[in-house]
Amino acid sequence: MYTCICNAIKESDLRKAARQHRGGAESVYAKLGKRPNCGHCLEEAEDIILEEREALATPLAAA
Ligand code: FES
Repeated sequence: MYTCICNAIKESDLRKAARQHRGGAESVYAKLGKRPNCGHCLEEAEDIILEEREALATPLAAA
């Protein structure tokens, strides 16, 4: 599924980039070689980025 239609950025690519790069949506887009156009995706992109970083910071439960 695409998070950003203007730049054809898939949610999966955004999640991967969020784990590898710092900053907000615009910074992560820049690392993907993109920049916002209409801006409609930015709020959702920020949520996805935060979600990924929180998942990184949360230790896995011991099995
Ligand atoms: S949908 Fe992402 S900039 Fe337009």
